[in-house]
Amino acid sequence: MNRLKIFAVSLIAVFSVAAVASAKYKPTVKADVGIYPNDFGPTTIDVSHYPPKMKLYYKVFSQKCQACHTIARPINSQFLELTDAEMAAAKKTQPEIFKVGPNIIKAEPKIWSRYVHRMMSKPGCPVGKDGKKIWEFLVFDSKQRKMGKNLKAWIANRTKLLNNFKNLYPKEYKHLVSNGSLQPLGGK
Ligand code: HEC
Repeated sequence: MNRLKIFAVSLIAVFSVAAVASAKYKPTVKADVGIYPNDFGPTTIDVSHYPPKMKLYYKVFSQKCQACHTIARPINSQFLELTDAEMAAAKKTQPEIFKVGPNIIKAEPKIWSRYVHRMMSKPGCPVGKDGKKIWEFLVFDSKQRKMGKNLKAWIANRTKLLNNFKNLYPKEYKHLVSNGSLQPLGGK
């Protein structure tokens, strides 16, 4: 084979690997809102054991927070909102939450409140008066899925999302590191 042929064949190989990878691993975003590791995770939450009020708020959340990106983005987010007292208690009873690093769990007072407000300030956001219900749901749900008996599963899933994202979308990964949304994985 001459050089050109070898080049062409390897180019086809590279493209077909990339095509297979991206077909299996498509983000669930709808508009030009960047992509996040979160976008590749599940798009539903099993709320069957949640209190009736939270089941209702889950519906509101799933309808309103998928107007720009799909609901995968908040569902697979690292954010965990705890009060100062809850933070202090969790540091004693579940120190792992704080050891896994902010890419996996970012625990902070008011973090969901801040983000719901941030989303609401974007042009065309349909959240309106439902902001408080959505915030209550996100606070409750994050405590169910990112703490206690579900902590291990959460760490495993989020780690997988981050590693896949870094491998398949290096440019977007670098962008999120440079704007402070993610910490560099393994220092890079
Ligand atoms: C009007 C469009 C729009 C709506 C509606 C919207 N978002 Fe977003 N969202 C964005 C954009 C754009 C970004 C990219 C980061 C940024 O600009 O803040 C984003 C990013 C995010 C992130 C990732 C933040 C990070 O740094 O990890 C989360 C979580 C999120 N949105 C949650 C929500 C929630 C919860 C709702 C419903 C209350 C919502 N979004 C509704 C546009 C929207």
